[in-house]
Amino acid sequence: MPAPDVPFEAQINKLWGHIRGLHVLHLIRTGADLGWFRVLAEAGERGLAPEDLAAPQGLHLPFVRIWWKTAIAWEILDPVDDGRARLAPHFDAILAKPGDPRFLLPYVVATLDHFQPDLATHTEAMADGAIRTFQEHGHAFAAAIGDTTAGLHALMAHRLLPGIDEVRVALEGGGTFLDYGCGVAGFVIQVAKAFPESRCAGTDIHQDGLEQARRAVAASGLNERVAIHDGNAWQGEPASVDVITMVEVLHEIPVDARAHVLDHCRRLLRDSGRLVILDETYPEDADLRNPDAALAVQTQFNEMTWGNVVPTARQQEALLAHAGLEIIDRSTIGGIFTQLIAAPRGK
Ligand SMILES: C[S@@+](CC[C@H](N)C(=O)[O-])C[C@H]1O[C@@H](n2cnc3c(N)ncnc32)[C@H](O)[C@@H]1O
Repeated sequence: MPAPDVPFEAQINKLWGHIRGLHVLHLIRTGADLGWFRVLAEAGERGLAPEDLAAPQGLHLPFVRIWWKTAIAWEILDPVDDGRARLAPHFDAILAKPGDPRFLLPYVVATLDHFQPDLATHTEAMADGAIRTFQEHGHAFAAAIGDTTAGLHALMAHRLLPGIDEVRVALEGGGTFLDYGCGVAGFVIQVAKAFPESRCAGTDIHQDGLEQARRAVAASGLNERVAIHDGNAWQGEPASVDVITMVEVLHEIPVDARAHVLDHCRRLLRDSGRLVILDETYPEDADLRNPDAALAVQTQFNEMTWGNVVPTARQQEALLAHAGLEIIDRSTIGGIFTQLIAAPRGK
């Protein structure tokens, strides 16, 4: 294939853009650590000057000024009158509103604190393919992952699940719900609150996550209606669940364990039940640059050394079919996630 005619400068600028990306993450992290996005969000349209950010905490003004100018240059802040700047459009939700489905700050924090150290091991890992599983990453990691998925949980509990007729009817009518791979229980708690008649449970195999999940359920006062099971031992009653979800879980299950897990889900589901999977879908080679696949490609890259393999659409279909489940709907959520709704075949 002849080399495409791309200007040299364009390629150089691409790389500068990637280098800047790391700097932007650090700029955001500093602003978040110092609580600046919260105060900028509170200031709204009027904006704030560097002095307003520095003075309340007695900070070093020359550095704060450089941060502030850089944030304007990189379009996190927009200048307004009198030397003030406000958050650029939508950045209040993205950086300053925990619980908002668009709140992406935890992803920035997890990238710097948890993904970056793993990425730094890639050169060594190429030699021997050594892996360090999700479960070997410990307590703070489980909590950070729970934070990164909280926005997705809000979207699913309040928009996506109520939008699936069979799911809404079952959960509004006192049905049973299971979040498979529940992590620290953020989602099962949101579902229990969104559907007050439902009986809910979560299961996971990660001890650090399970411990935090149990504490979170107790703290939310939902012990009566939300159970957390240790998936290393728990099997559950066959045909006892109306709705099972897997949020960012399928790609985390070792490839040789996937059939077993999906068989388990099928056994737990009632014949009228639904399995809802939210995950990434790895593209076929021809689609590696498709924007819909951007998160899948990135996830596969940064989770490679956790032993994770992001399945393609064909692999998802084969796995579900093998378990006696058929995909009744496949959709793209937010331009990057895949939602699969599956039902017992022929039911
Ligand atoms: C990326 S985390 C997502 C956690 C949670 N669903 C969320 O949205 O925050 C993936 C989770 O799947 C769990 N997991 C992996 N394999 C599992 C299995 N066989 N059974 C139950 N949980 C599993 C992991 O321990 C981890 O907590």
